[in-house]
Amino acid sequence: MLSEAVSFIKSKIGDFEPEIGIVLGSGLGELADEFCDIALDYSDIPNFEASTISGHKGRLVFAEISGKKVVMMQGRFHYYEGHSIEKVVFPIKVMKKLGVKTLILTNAAGGVNPSFNPSDLMIITDHINFMGVNPLIGKNDDSMGTRFPDMSEVYDSNLVELVQKVGDSIGVDLQEGVYMALTGPSYETPAEVRMAKVIGADAVGMSTVPEAIVASWAGMKVIGLSCICNSAAGVSTVGLSHDDVIRAANIAKDKFKKLVKEVVKKL
Ligand code: HPA
Repeated sequence: MLSEAVSFIKSKIGDFEPEIGIVLGSGLGELADEFCDIALDYSDIPNFEASTISGHKGRLVFAEISGKKVVMMQGRFHYYEGHSIEKVVFPIKVMKKLGVKTLILTNAAGGVNPSFNPSDLMIITDHINFMGVNPLIGKNDDSMGTRFPDMSEVYDSNLVELVQKVGDSIGVDLQEGVYMALTGPSYETPAEVRMAKVIGADAVGMSTVPEAIVASWAGMKVIGLSCICNSAAGVSTVGLSHDDVIRAANIAKDKFKKLVKEVVKKL
């Protein structure tokens, strides 16, 4: 299954060997419009699903950014769309097989930490898997990773430091914190957000963690970046809407793109 997708992609990209993978979250897909050498629609790739949510396109985009060969997912598969967790993480396994060593996972998230403001960017330092499912359940593919992988440092601490330094150098302020993933698609209740805060989360969202688990298992270095699009339910008195999330991502997207380009240069 995996080999079918990988062979198809290789037949389209020839000797382009991406070393960096980027998963572009809600409202952050523009980087793949700016840099696009080869684009493959998910619907054309064997065993890929089609992405269904607005604000997400649905293409695998290959490009050289800051002199580095990069593969980008313009739109990801979410568990809440009804995809199996295997389908959600399938592209990460494909990236590994294509030669990706470092994976940048990005997302839109709600701020749990009261000092965060909408349109802030947060470097993920750790995560809490609250999705009730683990993408590694099932027969283990020993060729990719071990049965009981260590998750002590999913988000490479040297890379957290590097991203922080890059942020400083280009004048982009960055928060740091723990990302907690829930399935969605309903946003959290204020009680759930209070729980998230008590157990150590700074932000909540509906993605990223399954991909990070698989990438770490498969030996990739992972960078996580959240665009804090809103204060999570109950943190502020304002209600939540997907439109507001996309609007905040739009405000943040220029600094986001600048940051990612500069980080890619330094990897
Ligand atoms: N909760 C979960 N996911 C989100 C949020 C939120 O408040 N904002 C953007 N994605």
